[in-house]
Amino acid sequence: MRQTRIRYIRDIAKKNRMQIRATNTTVLDWTGDALAIGIWEDAIELTGDLAQLDEKLAGTIEELIEEEEFKGKSGSTAVTRVGGKSSVRKVILVGLGKAEELKLDNWRTAAAAIARLAKKEKTLGINLPITREEPAAIAQAITEGILLALHQDNRFKSEPEDKKVKLETVDLLGLGGQDTGISRGEQIVSGVILARELVNAPANEVTSVTMAETAEQIASDYGLAIEILEKEDCEKFEQGMGAFLGVAKASDLPPKFIHLTYKPEGTPKRKIAIVGKSLTFDSGGLNLKVAGSGIETMKMDMGGGAATLGAAKAIAQLKPEVEVHFICAATENMISGRAMHPGDILKAANGKTIEVNNTDAEGRLTLADALVFAEKLEVDAIVDLATLTGACIIALGDDIAGLWSTEDSLASQIKAAAELAGEKFWQMPMEEKYFEGMKSQIADMKNTGPRGGGSITAALFLKQFIKDTPWVHLDIAGPVWGDKEKGVNNSGATGFPVRTLVNWVMSAV
Ligand code: BES
Ligand code: MN
Ligand code: ZN
Repeated sequence: MRQTRIRYIRDIAKKNRMQIRATNTTVLDWTGDALAIGIWEDAIELTGDLAQLDEKLAGTIEELIEEEEFKGKSGSTAVTRVGGKSSVRKVILVGLGKAEELKLDNWRTAAAAIARLAKKEKTLGINLPITREEPAAIAQAITEGILLALHQDNRFKSEPEDKKVKLETVDLLGLGGQDTGISRGEQIVSGVILARELVNAPANEVTSVTMAETAEQIASDYGLAIEILEKEDCEKFEQGMGAFLGVAKASDLPPKFIHLTYKPEGTPKRKIAIVGKSLTFDSGGLNLKVAGSGIETMKMDMGGGAATLGAAKAIAQLKPEVEVHFICAATENMISGRAMHPGDILKAANGKTIEVNNTDAEGRLTLADALVFAEKLEVDAIVDLATLTGACIIALGDDIAGLWSTEDSLASQIKAAAELAGEKFWQMPMEEKYFEGMKSQIADMKNTGPRGGGSITAALFLKQFIKDTPWVHLDIAGPVWGDKEKGVNNSGATGFPVRTLVNWVMSAV
């Protein structure tokens, strides 16, 4: 196998040789460059160890609270230098909001804010309250927050701005013994970063071939099984993957249908499939995207596939007792003399015929064949994730993904996993009546319906390619990308929803 593009994918913790450690040292005994302290909104007065620490630091903390009018509001921060020969050189206060409203994600975002303020220091101590029963989950969330906030994608700058992280050690105070939580966090982040870097890389870097090579690299690094179906193999699968290959026709690059499999050592407690939309570029096809429709950001249209491979990387390290199939039908939606025409009729692998009344609704065509393939694996559940519709962004905005499901218990599992991951989903209706808008006069269905409810008809279209396996569809068009730094994310690709997928698989036993 030739050298793959995965060389772009680094492990920031390794690169910076930064170490996150769990310790039972208290704020009173810890010495180092920066000490970060979490403060409740409704308990701003310093008590116990914090009162003693303030005394030791000659009232610095009290002074900072007063001067900055620091109220402990969630997400707020205040920083000061400490003079003299004190045990710490810098104090960082982080607001945690109201104690009764605290969610696991508050630790994650607090840690992200701290990491950004302390990245030029060598040593950092983090003292956040450990109020939940699962300190391992807290250690994991803090680790995720730190590593995700510090990840900066400078691969495409000839002279990266000087934003280098100098941190060497980060001590998590009060979390002694929670090393498993930390390593889980590191493993999950390695998957999120893979997804971010695949999405950030433009369409002239990450192609269908790169997606396949990345999957091969994961397979060889972690001992997963891999099968890549070439165009000819796709033609032979069941009644032929005419929908996927119809989209791929105008590209000069070969389509790659990627199937990566993780199998646990013993008998799997459950078998699942994750299917990610993998359009490495979406020009719209002959229904070409016009200026202003975001064509220049359509490198992100493989965000579902990138998160699928990111989840594979994390799951391969975490080794749950679940068999997981990762599926990406990778290609690009282009124009050429070979391009599918609006009005063409395609036949999917299950024999259903589709009148392509809009070549820009290509994601659902590629997913149709991928879902048929997934169901043939006889799994207990299928989850697909796709930057499927602009309509979903109109409905839910940039931060929230849409969720559709044929089975409420499966939807609940995903929502619970997402809540812990700090990723937002909103369940949308599977309004069967709307499928009437997709009726074709000449084929079994059209690929688009009326403008209204565009993300719902897209979900209903996908449903035609699932027989009876419990299934969840996630429309992630909004949250895969962010223009600004927000929470644990920096501008650009977010790696959404790798954390949710991994949490779900880990809990799905
Ligand atoms: N990849 C797009 C959806 C998209 C839009 C993702 C904006 C991220 C940001 C998808 O293939 C598409 O073009 N959908 C069309 C569907 C329409 C033709 C029914 C859309 O949303 O306009
Ligand atoms: Mn499109
Ligand atoms: Zn698309």
